[in-house]
Amino acid sequence: MPSYSLVTFGCQMNQHDSERMEEVLQRAGYAPTTDVEQADLVLLNTCSVREKAEQKLRSEVGRLGVLKRSRPELLIGVAGCVAQQEGERLIKRMPQIDLLIGPDNIPELPGLLRELAGGAPPQVRAAFDLDSPRFLTLDAGLPRARQVSSFVTIMKGCDERCSFCIVPTTRGPERYRPSEEILLECEALVAQGTREITLLGQTVDSYLDPTRKLPANPAAEAALAMLPSGETAKRRGAGIHADESEFPALLRAICERVPGLARLRYTSLHPRHLTPSLIQSHQSLPQLVRHVHMPVQSGSDRVLRRMIRRYSVAEYLERTDALKRAVPGLSLSTDIIVGFPGETDEDFELTLDLMRRVGFVGVFGFKYSERPGTPALKLTDDVPESEKSRRLSALFEVSEGLRRAHLERLIGKEETVLVEGLGKTGGYTGRTERNEIVHFGSKEDVLGELALVRITGAFKHSLEAELVDEARRAPLPAQLASAGAALASGRPGRVNLPVV
Ligand code: SAH
Ligand code: F3S
Repeated sequence: MPSYSLVTFGCQMNQHDSERMEEVLQRAGYAPTTDVEQADLVLLNTCSVREKAEQKLRSEVGRLGVLKRSRPELLIGVAGCVAQQEGERLIKRMPQIDLLIGPDNIPELPGLLRELAGGAPPQVRAAFDLDSPRFLTLDAGLPRARQVSSFVTIMKGCDERCSFCIVPTTRGPERYRPSEEILLECEALVAQGTREITLLGQTVDSYLDPTRKLPANPAAEAALAMLPSGETAKRRGAGIHADESEFPALLRAICERVPGLARLRYTSLHPRHLTPSLIQSHQSLPQLVRHVHMPVQSGSDRVLRRMIRRYSVAEYLERTDALKRAVPGLSLSTDIIVGFPGETDEDFELTLDLMRRVGFVGVFGFKYSERPGTPALKLTDDVPESEKSRRLSALFEVSEGLRRAHLERLIGKEETVLVEGLGKTGGYTGRTERNEIVHFGSKEDVLGELALVRITGAFKHSLEAELVDEARRAPLPAQLASAGAALASGRPGRVNLPVV
């Protein structure tokens, strides 16, 4: 049986595409291996959102090229956003590559591999499925290890066109998945042991059901009235019933149809689609977690305008304040870009002010990097690299301080943790509703349980706890405590490389 190794760069969408890609490969008779040196096929699922991510791809292909010299039968495949963005050009620059496949072409993977096995030249497939969008669907027939937490895609592409972002080019225009497909996949995952689902999309809160099967939201008309008139007309013109988005209706349908689901998450929101009915969903659906990731990008209106984000700082704050008022204890995380063209010291200080004002518990900070074909290329990338680095460090200092204070405030509190796995050196690891990672010991197997714990200490990025139930309580192994360890992944055939 031929073997494959899959290396994933970048975001959760890519991680999820990789999971489905593995299913396609296994159906085609490939077996996973963790040993890249021995694999017959190495597939790199790439990210191109920042230049650094692309550099990683180049060095990885270079390394594999050396391996290929001693093992010419090794197949090197590149999937994901770089494949989509570069197409044939990439093979010209890196002739070691045998296969390029865009995010919408994964189902064609087995056929392309057969061509290559038959001696065909390098294969390239990177076409968007605009007319009849396909979504990579869970292959429920394959044996799999129990996965406590799973991803479900609800949309792909993005219509926002923020001036710095390459995603609309690499992932194409917005296409939404039929609600029934989403519901069936949620049901199938829960039947296989999943307790938590994260709904994925670039702007999940703009979701509209293309099959119009979701029941209308009773609060829709009121919510619709709050939208800018152009947006209202667009949605009415699309013939879809009068909601500002059907995301709240989808959330409700999932919670009703899949009672075994303990927790429902989603990522990411675009602030301009966050509406009263979504806030109301957080109040009425107990499965919806008390954590929201909502990228803000900058705390300066001047910069937000140049980024074409289509909201102001005041509007962002209005929405986060409303969420916090409606859902006590809700925590927020965000994405921020530093050094966007024209960003002054004062603009950057406004970003730090906003971070403190909202009290983000997690901030993903990035230095602006120019991306091919994006509108921001017209602006001069005028913040020097050294200044971008300084701003990024200042941003991390503020965000570390906010996180530390937040984690320390939790010491002594009781929290319900969804137990996701074993720590690398023993003990269990899970997450609170707000996404904090918690390590604790247990005498019994608690995997997949919602366990009540008391927080006993805070590490830099996670928490230490003990089970409230004394009969099951066990001490946390000392090494784990000192390492503040991350979740053990333990999945063969897959390596995840975060890209900052
Ligand atoms: N809507 C998506 C965003 C995808 S890109 C989501 O929220 O899931 C992820 C983050 O990368 C963005 O929020 C932004 O902060 C950052 N980013 C995108 N393009 C960038 C660029 N050209 N330079 C630096 N950071 C960028
Ligand atoms: Fe990118 Fe803006 Fe869409 S950041 S993914 S264009 S919402």
